[in-house]
Amino acid sequence: MAPNVLIIGAGGVAHVAAHKCAQNNDILGDICIASRTRSKCDAVIESIRRKNNLKDASGKLTSARLDAYDVSSTVKLIRDTGSSIVINLGTAYINMSVLSACIEAGATYMDTAVHEEADKPCEDPPWYGNYEWPRKDECARAGINAILGVGFDPGVVNAYGALAAKHYFDTIDTIDMMDVNAGNHGKWFATNFDPEINFREFVKVWTWIDRQWVCRPIHSKKKIYDFPVVGKQPIYLSGHDEIHSMSKNIDARSIRFWMGFGDHYINVFTVLTKLGLLSTKPVRTAEGVEVVPLKVVKACLPDPKTLAPNYTGKTCIGDLVRGVKDGKKREVFIYNICDHKQCYNEVESQAISYTAGVPPVAAAILVARGKWNPRTMVNVEELDPDPFIEELNRIGLPTRVKFMRTARKSARKKSSARARLKAGRAGKTARTTKARAGGKKRKAARKKATSRRKRR
Ligand SMILES: NC(=O)c1ccc[n+]([C@@H]2O[C@H](COP(=O)([O-])OP(=O)(O)OC[C@H]3O[C@@H](n4cnc5c(N)ncnc54)[C@H](OP(=O)(O)O)[C@@H]3O)[C@@H](O)[C@H]2O)c1
Repeated sequence: MAPNVLIIGAGGVAHVAAHKCAQNNDILGDICIASRTRSKCDAVIESIRRKNNLKDASGKLTSARLDAYDVSSTVKLIRDTGSSIVINLGTAYINMSVLSACIEAGATYMDTAVHEEADKPCEDPPWYGNYEWPRKDECARAGINAILGVGFDPGVVNAYGALAAKHYFDTIDTIDMMDVNAGNHGKWFATNFDPEINFREFVKVWTWIDRQWVCRPIHSKKKIYDFPVVGKQPIYLSGHDEIHSMSKNIDARSIRFWMGFGDHYINVFTVLTKLGLLSTKPVRTAEGVEVVPLKVVKACLPDPKTLAPNYTGKTCIGDLVRGVKDGKKREVFIYNICDHKQCYNEVESQAISYTAGVPPVAAAILVARGKWNPRTMVNVEELDPDPFIEELNRIGLPTRVKFMRTARKSARKKSSARARLKAGRAGKTARTTKARAGGKKRKAARKKATSRRKRR
């Protein structure tokens, strides 16, 4: 029997997940999209119908108004819609309320971002230890699946780490997750997903180096990396959700996250920060109105969903993994390329929402088929990555694997090539000098013979 799916939220990511659920409703069953603003859910449904993406036309596709902080209303909606899978794609503030509702209703819970409290941006690590993990036993007792952070990053990048450990390495030294958007939306400035959540990511950098948490200032470490397909891109050491679970679940010396930013983004971000406009602390205007600066900035910026029609270019997100296999050093880049325009043509969205919205649907299909059924709370890297990667390949996010030459090997090759070149040049010079010398000797001998003949 199909499980039926309740999607909570109707933003950019939920829009994609709803399209993908509809394309797979023969497996997933009825779909309900519920959010604070019902008209946004209806707009998603219109888009699905416009693109003719409902596979089984007899399947139900409905909308509902829901304030997900209200646990009993959420439980009621889960029961009324007969949903046994809930994909939570609302803001990260509602995660714990939705989890409570799933535990009570006995439904599978999924999200794509770590829980946050509005007044506590960038808490101490490990982030999952603050809210999610203390509730693991509750999930196990209720016998429900709670799959945390199953977007792209976090999500697929966690699975890439597990894939590396399962197939490509005996021991892992470093995992560098790298996320670049080499696309252009044509706006002067916009964030690609919820600006509030986006900016809150950049308060400070918690990263895992030499098996311990290290805190660095934001945007303080930059490098240029030459990515497949999208070429050389500037990336900055950043803090991110997945480091907080992978450092516990994958045995690696260092696990880092790098995010691509152009100079323009850094400039705007710096100005907003310096002016206090990214603050989550309320301020009072001269008129006596209390406002949270970050919420005002969010209200002024373009809605990420509106970026989709004119977006061009591609994203590249993946894990650069270094370690040892069969006694030899190895470096592998496991990644995905996603094209903004293709996403728009398929589901009227852009690649950032697409890469985040497709994975929870792949996970829902695996749960529906009984391939993922942990019956407790897990982060993605704790599950078998193989069926997930296979399902992602099938539904729109294919994985590519590039075996790199290890740094030392390529350095050795470079130096031996240089040596060969040098030796070649030296050989050529020696040969040339010898030839020249031989030519001179022959010329002198010829001159001597001529003068002897003349004398005779
Ligand atoms: N892992 C990844 O790869 C990845 C990538 C990008 C984003 N994400 C995460 O995905 C989530 C959604 O992102 P997005 O860009 O789609 O955000 P978004 O466009 O801002 O959408 C958020 C949605 O949540 C709804 N919502 C907020 N509070 C609610 C409540 N109390 N009850 C019910 N609905 C509520 C909003 O309703 P209104 O419209 O009424 O405000 C909106 O529809 C975020 O948590 C984000 O961090 C994950």
